[in-house]
Amino acid sequence: MKKKRIAFVASECQPFFTSGGLGEVIGSLPKRLISESNKEFEVSVYLPLYASISKDMATKLKFIDSFTVDLSWRKQYCGIYQCSYKGVKFYFIDNEYYFKRDKLYGYFDDAERFAFFSKAVIEVIIRLKEYPNIIHCHDWQTGMVPVYLRTHYYYKNEFKQLKRIFTIHNIEYQGIFSQDNNFIEDVFGIDKNDSYLLEYHGMLNIMKGAIETSNIVSTVSPSYAEEIKDAAFAHGLEDIIKKASLEGKVLGILNGIDYEFYNPETDKNIVSKFNSDNIENKKINKTYLQKEIGLKEKNVPLIGMVTRLVAHKGLNILSKCCEQILQKDLQMVILGTGDEYFENFFKDLENKYPDKIKTILAFDQGLARRIYAGCDLFLMPSASEPCGLSQMIASRYGTIPMVRVTGGLKDSIKDFSLECGNGYTFEGMEPNSLKEMVFRALDDYKNDDWNNKIKKVMQIDFSWDKSAKVYLDLYKKILM
Ligand code: GLC
Repeated sequence: MKKKRIAFVASECQPFFTSGGLGEVIGSLPKRLISESNKEFEVSVYLPLYASISKDMATKLKFIDSFTVDLSWRKQYCGIYQCSYKGVKFYFIDNEYYFKRDKLYGYFDDAERFAFFSKAVIEVIIRLKEYPNIIHCHDWQTGMVPVYLRTHYYYKNEFKQLKRIFTIHNIEYQGIFSQDNNFIEDVFGIDKNDSYLLEYHGMLNIMKGAIETSNIVSTVSPSYAEEIKDAAFAHGLEDIIKKASLEGKVLGILNGIDYEFYNPETDKNIVSKFNSDNIENKKINKTYLQKEIGLKEKNVPLIGMVTRLVAHKGLNILSKCCEQILQKDLQMVILGTGDEYFENFFKDLENKYPDKIKTILAFDQGLARRIYAGCDLFLMPSASEPCGLSQMIASRYGTIPMVRVTGGLKDSIKDFSLECGNGYTFEGMEPNSLKEMVFRALDDYKNDDWNNKIKKVMQIDFSWDKSAKVYLDLYKKILM
């Protein structure tokens, strides 16, 4: 039987370059799809070639070809690099003008950069004659792929059967740009007759265009797929999502995490390896972490957070009750960067309570692992959370999650008051509810049963096993 080909298109991927959860998913799901499908499917991943690619990985790339891609009246260079890594084929789109920059995103011409990327991916597919059965695009940076397939390539026989899936990892980032100066035509090269696909509320909205032109719109948890029909979560896209839902094309599949990459038995970033039969060793990691971040080495509950310091991660709620929480006998560590307001707020708290809380303003993957491994509790009070991976990673390292009931947190963590409980939860936006949840956990910490809770949490399966199968069922269904 001929293998079916899936093309993943994304703007980041571990271990090449990543800024967060999206990169982790793109770095871990394809290889699981290949192994779970018994090689019935092959998966290639298309990425931009950023200058920030890790040195190790850069040496693996092979140049294959170069040609010119048209973007409206512009003719842009496109180099193609390739490598195979853990059974997955990766293609990199090279153009230094667009991608030789310090950061992945955040530039005035992001719309143009990622429209170029999207068009180049389609052109590379054509040039190499590697036509996929399914093209699976992730987040707005790749949203122009299904749009161009509709507007520029609809006539091509090789694309007639192609199914288009668009996955929303976070609806907050839609790729919204001003429509001034005839942007859609002049930069994207999209005809006036088709520009309605991208227009929304007087702006140009790439995610909207992707939703309209895809066969399936998925998101990263079933609860979030429901929530984004609601204005409170959809950042203005609720009507588009509702319409797509009525067409039966919206669904949610919970992410998994890479169980090889996150493994407390082998993790080189932590000083003492452990598993659920050997949680005594976890304590050594706690002592090491306390020393590393400058907290006293003592036996009080240590609460960790690894997060972007932004409102939707629940820092508004936390900032209103954190000081009360710090009155208890406990320690806290927060790792992340983000809004200046929150950075200052939690630094100020550290100055006021230096032996209780440490705020480390950095993106440090090694320290993140030591926090996952060394803490007792992990806090995620997110106001919204499409999926969230940290609660799963913390669980894998025996650090008990405390979460707000929303999106993927709701689908992955149940309160210990239920028989299937694997963490602590609170509902609503009241700081008091968050505080009470933390106090419940602190009380339980004193009980003999605590080690059993750690074991229970570590034994929950958050690997890709289940979800990779769900994706494969979806692929098979839409190809029928
Ligand atoms: C985004 C979401 C996060 C999700 C990740 C991977 O970063 O905010 O909730 O886990 O994408 O899908």
